[in-house]
Amino acid sequence: MRHEHIETNSGLMILLILAVISIGGLVEIVPLFYINDTIEKVEGVRPNTPLEVRGRDLYLREGCYLCHSQQIRPFRDEWLRYGHYSLAAESQYDHPFQWGSKRTGPDLARLGGKYSNQWHVQHLIAPRSVVPQSIMPNYPWLLTTKLDYSDVADRMRALRATGVPYSLTQAEYEANVKKFGQTVADQLDISQAEANLLKEARDKNFDGIAGQVTEMEALVAYLQSLGTMVNFGQYNDDAFVKFR
Ligand code: HEC
Repeated sequence: MRHEHIETNSGLMILLILAVISIGGLVEIVPLFYINDTIEKVEGVRPNTPLEVRGRDLYLREGCYLCHSQQIRPFRDEWLRYGHYSLAAESQYDHPFQWGSKRTGPDLARLGGKYSNQWHVQHLIAPRSVVPQSIMPNYPWLLTTKLDYSDVADRMRALRATGVPYSLTQAEYEANVKKFGQTVADQLDISQAEANLLKEARDKNFDGIAGQVTEMEALVAYLQSLGTMVNFGQYNDDAFVKFR
């Protein structure tokens, strides 16, 4: 059949386009009917604690994602700079995920543990006081604003509706104990949300101000958790190749 014949016959052209597109569609869609989960199972990944949930909300409120991505791509330059590339499982409970596409500042996917809490507090109040060339805005109000945690249980309930396994019933709690262990399961219990938030703030004191829970507390708790859930030390370099 001459190409000109197809190009000048729009009915035939539409049919052929549909045929070609549906091959691509079928190849992508049909396998999804035969697998339950498209995310690899990786040990250590857990939903955020109540304090981290609030910190993440502040991360969104302040628009940090407009300058920071949270996805390390599997290229050598990224791996060398930021650490192991991001796994799908690591943003499994992140709704909406914070992969981002804009890197005015560095990627934050493996930020946790890189700096002290004190560094973060100082950097967020006045970035140029620790990194003189920085163009990041100041966020001084985070340290002077008390954290509103009155609705943290509702926020977890909303996340639960999207599939994050925060527990409401005893059965859900027990399933979490099996899946994540007792310590994490306790943190995921919605009925204990406020108590857990206060306890974590008191024990770890991220903002350096004892006896007060500021917005800074929650944001730094969240930042320190980023990229720390999977212990990559226990895997060899090829362990994740099978998921590609
Ligand atoms: C206008 C863009 C911009 C915004 C908005 C922004 N940042 Fe930054 N951020 C930067 C730049 C540029 C750097 C690199 C210089 C520096 O360290 O200050 C940076 C660095 C950082 C670092 C250090 C990362 C590292 O690995 O050294 C952290 C942590 C950080 N930002 C957190 C935040 C948080 C949290 C927010 C929201 C409250 C935020 N940033 C908002 C631009 C931005």
